[in-house]
Amino acid sequence: MRIGILGAGGMADALGTQWARAGHEVMISGRDVPVSAARAAGMTAQAQGAVVRAGSWAEAAEFGEVVMVAVRQAGLAAVLRSAGTALRGKPVIDVANAEGPGGYDPARPIAPMIRELTGGHVVKAFNLCHVDVWRMTPPVFDGRPLAVPLCGDDPAALAAVRTLVADLGCTPVDGGGFERAPLLEATATFMIGLWFGGADAQAVLPPMSHSGVS
Ligand SMILES: NC(=O)c1ccc[n+]([C@@H]2O[C@H](COP(=O)([O-])OP(=O)(O)OC[C@H]3O[C@@H](n4cnc5c(N)ncnc54)[C@H](OP(=O)(O)O)[C@@H]3O)[C@@H](O)[C@H]2O)c1
Repeated sequence: MRIGILGAGGMADALGTQWARAGHEVMISGRDVPVSAARAAGMTAQAQGAVVRAGSWAEAAEFGEVVMVAVRQAGLAAVLRSAGTALRGKPVIDVANAEGPGGYDPARPIAPMIRELTGGHVVKAFNLCHVDVWRMTPPVFDGRPLAVPLCGDDPAALAAVRTLVADLGCTPVDGGGFERAPLLEATATFMIGLWFGGADAQAVLPPMSHSGVS
């Protein structure tokens, strides 16, 4: 599929390179097209024969059958306005987390803001893991492929994102409807706090056999 990426930073590079390798057409975008083009050239060099393109925000939004929003919170609203109306009705992948200490505000989750500004079928995904995890080929820990929860409402958008998760060698997990997307932002904030505090966040959850669900 054609994947437009709003962003030319770490997440765009990591996920965009994987998807280009998997045979998708990828266009990234940043604030300065020549700078993004240099980043796209680096991705092309890693992408085993695929060519990654670069364009403006609006061009990447127009290009994508699916569009991933991978922009810093500080620039998010302005970038989405620059992307224009091209995202209306399209599958939009939201990877965003609140940034910095005190950045998370439960009264102002990011996902609904992205949906409001784009009019897209937003699916929240990929926000729970550090960018370097998305560079792994594949992300497998202790022999188990990484599970990636998706929160969204639109069946076609969810199906597209499930495919992109599987292309990484990961397992898509139904995280519930779009109304649960803010829970993924809260989860990321909580887990990142544990990691920065030196705790193994994975160790706080029991295995399924001890979840209380019979
Ligand atoms: N890094 C992680 O480990 C990680 C993990 C999960 C989720 N996320 C989320 O993924 C999103 C992108 O993160 P990233 O790590 O890819 O960030 P990054 O490497 O810093 O790239 C940020 C992108 O945002 C663009 N941008 C637009 N306006 C901006 C502004 N005012 N200030 C700063 N950047 C601006 C940058 O444009 P230029 O290209 O012109 O610089 C760049 O393309 C964020 O929402 C983050 O919360 C990150």
